[in-house]
Amino acid sequence: RIPVIIDCDPGHDDAIAILWAVSSPKLEVRAVTTVAGNQSIEKVTDNAVRILTLAGARNIPVGQGFERPLLGKNHDGAVIHGETGLDGPPRPEAGFEKSPLNSIALMERIIEESSEKITIIALGPLSNVARFLLVRPDLKKRIGQISMMGGGTYGNWTPAAEFNIWDDPEAANIVFQSGIPIIMAGLDVTQKAYVTDEENDILKQQGGRVSAYVGQLIEYYRQYHYKVEGFPGCTLHDPCAVAALIHPEIFESVNCNVDVELHGTLTRGMTVIDKIGYLSKIFGEDEKKNVKFLTAVDRNAFVANLSRAI
Ligand code: BDR
Ligand code: CA
Repeated sequence: RIPVIIDCDPGHDDAIAILWAVSSPKLEVRAVTTVAGNQSIEKVTDNAVRILTLAGARNIPVGQGFERPLLGKNHDGAVIHGETGLDGPPRPEAGFEKSPLNSIALMERIIEESSEKITIIALGPLSNVARFLLVRPDLKKRIGQISMMGGGTYGNWTPAAEFNIWDDPEAANIVFQSGIPIIMAGLDVTQKAYVTDEENDILKQQGGRVSAYVGQLIEYYRQYHYKVEGFPGCTLHDPCAVAALIHPEIFESVNCNVDVELHGTLTRGMTVIDKIGYLSKIFGEDEKKNVKFLTAVDRNAFVANLSRAI
């Protein structure tokens, strides 16, 4: 089993990603850490506890992260995820307390105690992961890989930038420059990972209370995608970063260099993805391929695997 820490800001799609990860015999979720993003840090931490309670996973500690990005002020995604961060169906009960350790201290403990390298699944802004790398650079080599949702060749929060990267570009830059192998589920693949209404109806009815709840989360979450983005279904961004570890065979990818734009007046927070390899082909630069960039997914397999898992 791959030992993982999930760093997240639940959030509808984060919640579905957590439930998928916890259900998988291929992953061992050792901790969940929270980051301000879709909602305030208190709200997303409370949501993480509630989702783990629903999953019957009260033994997984939840470490609260910091309330703001490395630079600048806080934002939120209330327009998509609502005031609670998990609007729509009644939220599950919270059955345990968050950890007395904050996100950094909890990551430290899990990584130091583990005999194997830890994989980080990052589903929100990269503020926590970057802070951890700044505080404990000596533990970097104990992180085997980072499977993250963020970025893309285009944006969803600005025309150029995806929300998670836009929210804390400095943090994303630190992570992309860290040398840790990165699997990147950007919008190019996550927008291909959608669930249609018909599929969601089946998903909702087939299982127990977890699938019923996930179906209702999707019903709320899809409203934004239909209204604003005009998609044929509800795109499930964060679950892609989990599925990429459990079912790597259903994704297509290219290894390439990715950098984060920090200064553009129109493009701050954009991920600059050298899919073609221009830097090395044209300029002869010794280009580092820091990212496995996911380009496509077998959507039917994605939906079938999600349904089975929840
Ligand atoms: C990302 O932003 C958040 O709203 C979602 O949870 C996801 O992590 C998509 O851009
Ligand atoms: Ca998220």
